[in-house]
Amino acid sequence: MSKLFRKKEIIVGDAQPADQRMARTLSWPHLVALGVGAIVGTGILTLIGVGADRAGPAVLISFAVAGLICACAALAYAEMSTMMPASGSAYTYSYAVLGEVFAWVIGWSLILEYSLVVSTVAVGWSGYAAPLLHDWLGYPLELARGPELGGIINLPAIFIIAVVAGLLSVGTKESATLNAVLVLVKIATLTLFVAVALPHFDATNLEPFMPFGFGKTMAPDGVERGVMAAAAIIFFAFYGFDAISTAAEETKNPERNLPIGIVGSMLACTVIYMVVAAAAVGALPFTSFADSPEPLALILRDLQQPGIATIIAAAAVIALPTVILAFLYGQSRIFLVMARDGFLPPALARISSRGTPVRITMITAALVSIIAGVLPIDEIAALANAGTLAAFAAVALCMLILRRRAPDAPRPFRTPAALLVGLIAILGCAYLFLSLPTKTQLYFLVWNGLGLLAYFGYGMHKSLAK
Ligand code: ALA
Repeated sequence: MSKLFRKKEIIVGDAQPADQRMARTLSWPHLVALGVGAIVGTGILTLIGVGADRAGPAVLISFAVAGLICACAALAYAEMSTMMPASGSAYTYSYAVLGEVFAWVIGWSLILEYSLVVSTVAVGWSGYAAPLLHDWLGYPLELARGPELGGIINLPAIFIIAVVAGLLSVGTKESATLNAVLVLVKIATLTLFVAVALPHFDATNLEPFMPFGFGKTMAPDGVERGVMAAAAIIFFAFYGFDAISTAAEETKNPERNLPIGIVGSMLACTVIYMVVAAAAVGALPFTSFADSPEPLALILRDLQQPGIATIIAAAAVIALPTVILAFLYGQSRIFLVMARDGFLPPALARISSRGTPVRITMITAALVSIIAGVLPIDEIAALANAGTLAAFAAVALCMLILRRRAPDAPRPFRTPAALLVGLIAILGCAYLFLSLPTKTQLYFLVWNGLGLLAYFGYGMHKSLAK
């Protein structure tokens, strides 16, 4: 029994064995770029359409609710990641604070988060890329969507995952610098959208503001709708700052640089989103872009701006891979830490001569490609959100427990009003989880049930913890 709750002593990066140690190459501008690179993506570019379908113009409230809960979780992350600047994010914190079996469940949830974000964003990328490929080269659209949406396979989504996996295998720093350039492209794209769409703002497009009510309810067409149902999907748009904490071991001066990276990138993105969402729902009735695979481009075409629509679509195609990069990077690091703990075969944890975990990056890329190739975007995103919500709640819980258990431990970053912030994060994540589609909640439970079987059949016996 005591095995289940054994806790890990955190080995901070430089004390790792030489063949499992990563170089400290990243500073705060890299981290903010990594954060914004991971945060701004398919959520604002594509899922804004799903959100509008679920909430109507009140998707603006969905953005605010999801943003508030994420901001609280971000503060808890900043505190935990500076207390334990080791790779592994929520998994590592749970192992140190809650005990092994919880760490396993959270590690298992993080696999959902990171892997399925890669798949979701690859499908979002394909949503913008495929129409361009179709118009320019006659690319067949059945090869750009999975069977549930009437296609065969989503090949562009698989292609982009392969490209990013290759880039990551070349080395972290090169990838982080390229990432910074692409982040600028992404910000410029959203700014251009706002500049063109906002002058068309018409308050009558906001009427009725909340056509599907606030809480999640089943609509006659079998889809669960409401402001909270949309918030549970839109939540996807906000996370990514946690990917920064997975880079803790590769960060110079992490006490200072991690909180700047996490809180700074989160705040910047919230402001950008509110403006983009207001411009989108104010420009046209929400039904005209609800559920579109390329809503921002569609809005601009409807506003008689086809040239700008093409620029936005092309820029999305160029810049969205930054999100795939950040999450594929994060996923490989989480697997690496789990392998180091004995939870995965040790051969997987080996770092190549370039200092990157090539083998595990490739295996992850292959698995997420299969999912991206066949499933629709809203289903993958909802399940990614379920995993993320579990991880965020766990981090906030770890923060609150450590405040009681070790009140005097050094905290380079202290969350202000910790009890309030921690409770908003935990209860908010629970409410968002309950607002997810019922099917997603079931899948999540099945996934973690399988995870627990794997723990009792394998992980518990292989664990290297004393
Ligand atoms: N926040 C990231 C996105 O919207 C995952 O793509």
